Amino acid sequence: MRDEIRRHERLYYVRNAPEITDAEFDALMRELKALEDEHPDLVVPDSPTQRVGGEPVDEFGKVVHAVPLLSLENCYAFGELDEWEERFRKLIPGEAFSYEAELKIDGLSITVLYEKGRLALAATRGDGATGEDVTANARTIRALPLVLTEPLPLLEVRGEVYMPWEVFKALNAAREEAGEAVFANPRNAASGSLRLLDPQLTAARKLRTYFYHIARVEGAESRSQTEDIALLERLGFPVNPLRRHLSDLGSVKAFIQEAKDRREGLDCESDGIVVKVDEKPLQERLGATAKFPRWAIAYKYPPEGAEARVLAIRVQVGRTGVLTPVADLTPVALKGSTVQRATLHNYEDLARKDIRVGDAVMVEKGGDVIPKVTRVVLEKRPEGAEPFRMPDHCPECGAPVTRFPGEVAVRCINPSCPALALEALYHYASRHALDIEGLGWKSVEQLFKAELLQDIVSIYRLRAADLAVLPGWAAKKAENLVQAVEAAKRPSLNRFLFGLGIRFVGEKAARTLAAHYRSPEALQKATEEELLALPDIGERIAGSVLAFVRNPGTLDLLRRLKQAGVEPVFQEDASGPKPLSGLSFVITGTLPGISRDEAKARIEAAGGKVVGSVSGKLAYLVVGEEPGSQLEKAKKLGIKTADWDTIMTMMRETAE
Ligand code: IVH
Repeated sequence: MRDEIRRHERLYYVRNAPEITDAEFDALMRELKALEDEHPDLVVPDSPTQRVGGEPVDEFGKVVHAVPLLSLENCYAFGELDEWEERFRKLIPGEAFSYEAELKIDGLSITVLYEKGRLALAATRGDGATGEDVTANARTIRALPLVLTEPLPLLEVRGEVYMPWEVFKALNAAREEAGEAVFANPRNAASGSLRLLDPQLTAARKLRTYFYHIARVEGAESRSQTEDIALLERLGFPVNPLRRHLSDLGSVKAFIQEAKDRREGLDCESDGIVVKVDEKPLQERLGATAKFPRWAIAYKYPPEGAEARVLAIRVQVGRTGVLTPVADLTPVALKGSTVQRATLHNYEDLARKDIRVGDAVMVEKGGDVIPKVTRVVLEKRPEGAEPFRMPDHCPECGAPVTRFPGEVAVRCINPSCPALALEALYHYASRHALDIEGLGWKSVEQLFKAELLQDIVSIYRLRAADLAVLPGWAAKKAENLVQAVEAAKRPSLNRFLFGLGIRFVGEKAARTLAAHYRSPEALQKATEEELLALPDIGERIAGSVLAFVRNPGTLDLLRRLKQAGVEPVFQEDASGPKPLSGLSFVITGTLPGISRDEAKARIEAAGGKVVGSVSGKLAYLVVGEEPGSQLEKAKKLGIKTADWDTIMTMMRETAE
């Protein structure tokens, strides 16, 4: 059954030619799972059911590469290919050679070791000499065989892990929905995904891979790159879809031209073609420099650009208050879509490129989602075009903007600015700030959309009757929230200050400020000298606090909060030890209603430490559903176990 399932995995993920439907495949998997559940002694680590396994780790182990992972020399013009050939030809005088040219995939490189035909190790490139052990994560990539079709004694292969466009778009959409930062391009997303500490999370990212190089092999013969690829294919690896064996540079160039447009149809990003001397004996004779093999080179396609006119430069205020200039453009076709807008990143970038309204500009869509303006076509600048001036007031709320030393971003820091409202509301109500139960991200968003919430003050005006008519809000839930809000009228000063979201002011700085000033009014009169004299307050924080308390929006907000009955109180012991200080934990199994990352973050926020494996010094083993081997180990060592509820109670009990 395992072999049968493996065959279907190959057909689906490697060949793109499934013979059965997804439902039929799932049924086969379920059947195998049931069989293995019945006969646990028959489970093997490389069973298709065992791709996602292993406990989350604190960090990846280091792997010293047996054969270093070299980079490739780049070139950008056909003339440079000629020069390359001329150079290496001198080193192998009189030899006949041919080329193999193949797609260059823009992901992150991975090296995978198989012993006796079974996956033994997967590692990232790192600095080329030492990488990270990402075996547990790589196993979740369905296209990567856990078992080879032939049990070669040893095989080390190199390939590229990437995130398909479709997956990337869906992931970013979901992250945006959840208020998380989006990935700039599939490459970053793939890299972030392969390096998640929990394999379960990596599995959900649906990464794919192509293999293109054999670093070491025992038990198989191959005389060329062409044969290497054929061997990889035979062993069950997904291989480069766009490749060709070519006799000379002329045909290599023709292939590069042809492949340019065919890249569009692929599910991955590709920025060029790798040209390799095909014959292995010649590759060996040519060898490598410190960084590159002499027998290969990467031809990079010029990024696709188009010319457009800047119709207007608008300044958008993001959710964190950063002002981003955006250019409205005359519509141009680029990489299969029409572009009418491009980000100008930040003011510094805009000023450096000196982009003006009316300018003709080159627009590019690299691997990035958002097109960018790369340069101005100066010859076409209309007469009288004025340099763009960044506004010194927020276009959303009119408050003066701030630029912190060392940052390129220009920001609005007005806590009542409508552009910042959602983020500010969420932060104010969050656990480490005012901890208003029932006002998590989802509710904040819902109430914001329903216009029951605008800024922080509006939280205190929520009425049960208005809430109870919203979808998903029973009378009880509405009542609970109103009560929680009532309780949040006398927050501890440190939480209140932290909740205001003053840039650079974390929980610790908030406690320091609270302990010294003891009221918001006193903080409003703070001077730079005073602030700098406080422990752990440097120029960066002091500057930010001053800019904040002097912002007219802040004064207005504090006044209105007071009117609404909010009275922060200073608590002497607010900086006492945290509830889980000095305790270490291991988590095993699936916790109810909370991801591992989140659970870990909570334990750490409460002063505890989460480690990778059970040892004698452990305070508690946190046990979820289907616990792993850690449970046995803990029992043997006599370590205390607890469920997540118990841990949550511990965190609350001793909390301030
Ligand atoms: S061959 C000795 N082939 O590009 C073997 N590399 O910019 C050298 N890459 O580090 C690598 N597609 O991660 C090779 N078809 C391909 C490739 C490829 C992508 C990556 C690889 C390399 C990087 C260099």
